[in-house]
Amino acid sequence: MEAATAQITPAPPSAPAPKAGAGWGSGGLSSEAARLRRRFPTVADLAAQARRRTPRFAYDFVAGGVGDDHGLARNRQALDAVQIVPRYGIDLRGVSTETTLFGRGYALPVGVAPMGLAGLLWPDADEAIAAAAQRARIPYVMSTVANSSIERIARIAPDVFWYQLYSVPENDHAVSLDLIRRAQAAGAHALVLTMDVPVRSKRVRDVRNGLVVPFRPTLRTAWDVARAPLWALAMLRRGQPRFRNFEPYLGPEASTGDLAGFVYQKMTGPLTWESVARFRDAWRGPLVVKGILHPDDADKAVSLGADGILVSNHGGRQFDAAPAAIDALPPIEERVRGRATVLVDGAMVSGLDLLRARKRGAAAAFAGRAFLMAYAAAGADGLDHVVRLFTEEFRTALIQSGTPFHDPVS
Ligand SMILES: Cc1cc2nc3c(=O)[nH]c(=O)nc-3n(C[C@H](O)[C@H](O)[C@H](O)COP(=O)(O)O)c2cc1C
Repeated sequence: MEAATAQITPAPPSAPAPKAGAGWGSGGLSSEAARLRRRFPTVADLAAQARRRTPRFAYDFVAGGVGDDHGLARNRQALDAVQIVPRYGIDLRGVSTETTLFGRGYALPVGVAPMGLAGLLWPDADEAIAAAAQRARIPYVMSTVANSSIERIARIAPDVFWYQLYSVPENDHAVSLDLIRRAQAAGAHALVLTMDVPVRSKRVRDVRNGLVVPFRPTLRTAWDVARAPLWALAMLRRGQPRFRNFEPYLGPEASTGDLAGFVYQKMTGPLTWESVARFRDAWRGPLVVKGILHPDDADKAVSLGADGILVSNHGGRQFDAAPAAIDALPPIEERVRGRATVLVDGAMVSGLDLLRARKRGAAAAFAGRAFLMAYAAAGADGLDHVVRLFTEEFRTALIQSGTPFHDPVS
């Protein structure tokens, strides 16, 4: 088990130095990066564009939460409520954003949270996001129900690849253990066990939109698709998203519907502590338990050999009464301090949010929707852009708040 550390080393300038006489402000720069910065200055701008380009049922599947979306809103409200008293008089212009997690160096304390069925928002999202994470040197957590395979993602993102497991209990976990074996063989750096889906949740927007996989056109969804012609074209070219990790268990002839049916029927039920102990034995490497909100559960996970705790309410998608992850974080960090690395996710959309997560006790934060929306809005360029937003804003927040990043997390 290794805790996260970070050092101050000179950071490369993130934007080209302006020429003398260029005037004040970056608005005049003509590079593609500058154009994206003007067009999408925040993640909210990217999400608005994603909404315009995609059918409603696809956008709602990603953006929505469970029930009345209270847990979803709470994540954002709680982050906004985190105040940081700035300290001045120190020169931190050379501050580095480098972060070490489980003995590996990353460029920034943010990673990509696992997202199943990401290919519904835009085809090939998993592989494009994994490639962007590799370029940016930030962790990429692949979902069990991604629309790519462990082996492909490992080739695309060899230096930043983590794997998230949803278990398949039947046959004494034969499939779960095989997925762990494949992740190990492919070189995943960390295994993330998601605990917070003991039962399928009621996502009201999906119910209302009649979401099914594979997609079956109805009058309403056909109208939705007609309003998103670029999405429809991309989907026609690439085919509907498949749960590719399960192809070896159903055979190459398995249809998209067969794979979806397998996931729906077999990948159910709680991940028990007994299973966590078994998976700990089966996995050689850092183990992260995700979806924890209670300090006793964090303690239990660490006692079973977890190296990391990812504090999360699943982006507000599982339990509408769950607290905001950022609020659940401090008592958990206090409980496992020195024994495990604490991570957090939920509504992270800016570099300031990353600083808030650090100040509350996380070694690093993860973001889901921010990356997926960026891809649906502007493709691979959108992904590089959102990484630049996180990087520049985080660096600015460190300097503005007077926080040398190597400060003990408090
Ligand atoms: C479309 C979508 C699919 C998700 N699928 C998974 C998944 O397969 N496994 C998992 O552990 N969490 C999953 N999550 C939860 C995320 O990993 C993460 O906890 C959450 O999205 C973080 O909040 P944010 O999207 O506001 O950043 C999913 C979230 C979204 C938005």
